[in-house]
Amino acid sequence: MSRATIMVDDRLGEYLDFINRPETAAQRKLRDETGMMPNAGMQIGPNQGSFMAFLIKLLGVERALEIGTFTGYSALTVASALPEGGTMVCCDVSAEWTAKGRAAWTEAGIGDRIDLRIGPAAETLDQLIADGEAGTFDFAFIDADKDNYDRYYEQCLILVRKGGLIAIDNVLWSGGVADPSDQDRLTVMIRALNEKLRDDPRVDFCLVPIGDGLSLARPR
Ligand SMILES: C[S@@+](CC[C@H](N)C(=O)[O-])C[C@H]1O[C@@H](n2cnc3c(N)ncnc32)[C@H](O)[C@@H]1O
Repeated sequence: MSRATIMVDDRLGEYLDFINRPETAAQRKLRDETGMMPNAGMQIGPNQGSFMAFLIKLLGVERALEIGTFTGYSALTVASALPEGGTMVCCDVSAEWTAKGRAAWTEAGIGDRIDLRIGPAAETLDQLIADGEAGTFDFAFIDADKDNYDRYYEQCLILVRKGGLIAIDNVLWSGGVADPSDQDRLTVMIRALNEKLRDDPRVDFCLVPIGDGLSLARPR
């Protein structure tokens, strides 16, 4: 038995891609197309997608929220895992990047499940709250500008029902959070957020070392 988390090198990563449920043709196509873009590294990896789709099904999520959509890979993954009639609200500032997502969602036959809102996510989330949507979401995925992570978390705590799930991406920050000499502004901020969630009596919390680190917070 070991208390250490195994290091996932390229070979082990390939094994995970092989043994986890393979990407659908639609996911692969979108990953390949996005792979040609300069910011391709922003999309979640196939293993993380597989894990998130598993969570969506495990929790019986019917209504999902995403903050940070980019070219739509994580939204495609989550929306495809929803049951018939399931819906998702996606927030992003980029009409250009999300246009790729819209096309991929339509091609995959799940376009009608996704309500894409273009604009600063903090404003979109405030609007959802003002529209009486508090407690109506089963799941939220936070993967946008890190400066607003704390704000998004607080807004998601209002929007996601008790017993639902808030997932926050990039919380290991390439390992920087564990390096005390790393005092970069965003590293310090993410480190503080991780500790805030750990100590937050409003949620059950676990940080999972998948991708660049995925925090899972379950509102109580
Ligand atoms: C890491 S990418 C999202 C990747 C996506 N979840 C995926 O896995 O394919 C971050 C996204 O956040 C968006 N973003 C940045 N600042 C934002 C803001 N203030 N409001 C909404 N979206 C924002 C960017 O346009 C970008 O598409």
